[in-house]
Amino acid sequence: MSAATTTAAGTGYVFKTEGLTRRFSGFTAVNNVTLEIPEGGVRTIIGPNGAGKTTFFNLLSGMLPPSEGRIWFRDREITSLLAYQRARLGIARSFQITNIFGHLSVYENVRLAVQAVHDGKANFFMPERRMGDLAEKTESVLHDVGLYDARDANAENLSHGDQRRLEIGLVIASDPPVLLLDEPLAGMSPTETHETVDLIQRISPGRTILLVEHDIDVVMAISTTITVFQTGSVLAVGTPQEIRANEAVQRAYLGELA
Ligand SMILES: Nc1ncnc2c1ncn2[C@@H]1O[C@H](COP(=O)(O)OP(=O)(O)O)[C@@H](O)[C@H]1O
Ligand SMILES: [Mg+2]
Repeated sequence: MSAATTTAAGTGYVFKTEGLTRRFSGFTAVNNVTLEIPEGGVRTIIGPNGAGKTTFFNLLSGMLPPSEGRIWFRDREITSLLAYQRARLGIARSFQITNIFGHLSVYENVRLAVQAVHDGKANFFMPERRMGDLAEKTESVLHDVGLYDARDANAENLSHGDQRRLEIGLVIASDPPVLLLDEPLAGMSPTETHETVDLIQRISPGRTILLVEHDIDVVMAISTTITVFQTGSVLAVGTPQEIRANEAVQRAYLGELA
């Protein structure tokens, strides 16, 4: 599925939520969130630990059912769709728990991810043609994530930063129009952070990227809009400039944004 063939059906947003709520045995992690996330760009969610960011991602991707509320993907209500059904619509997420096969090479990891998508579709290609397509797509993903030169290495021998980039490669292997990245820079060195930020910017044209990130300098530099979560609710939404100037946000962040 290419981003070009799945552009918005005129709604202007990728996701819309209405009264979205998730409780865990009485504790409300996501509290009555009504939000539209516009199509395209890097849409970042920030907020303190425990604010409900990961839970919100889990609700959007179908990893968790909501306790209350509704979710739309473009013009389609997806509240009751399962995670794999949402993935088929083009909603892809990376996991903080890694999906990498450590004993396989970088190339094999990406190839499996590319193949999984092809196998899921009715396929009218001749076998040889198909093998060629898979190899070409695998190599293009390896180039995208900057791991082409490391393609023969065992995945488990990669640096932490390269493993996180491989994980992004596994996500973009299906060419999803919508990507959910939950703290992709966690634990990265400054160099790895820089390379991964470049990568996110390189893969963002023609896609919508939902990002959860703590590094406020990165957030300010690459976000189209920022949504601030606090104790399960939306505190503010705006451009980086608007968020920086927002008094409620400044109070919540104790001047970190100044
Ligand atoms: N599966 C779960 N069971 C119980 N509590 C959970 C579960 N997942 C998250 N929580 C709680 O919900 C709150 C929000 O968590 P989370 O969405 O992970 O926050 P964030 O990603 O913003 O740090 C936290 O207090 C967390 O302990
Ligand atoms: Mg989290």
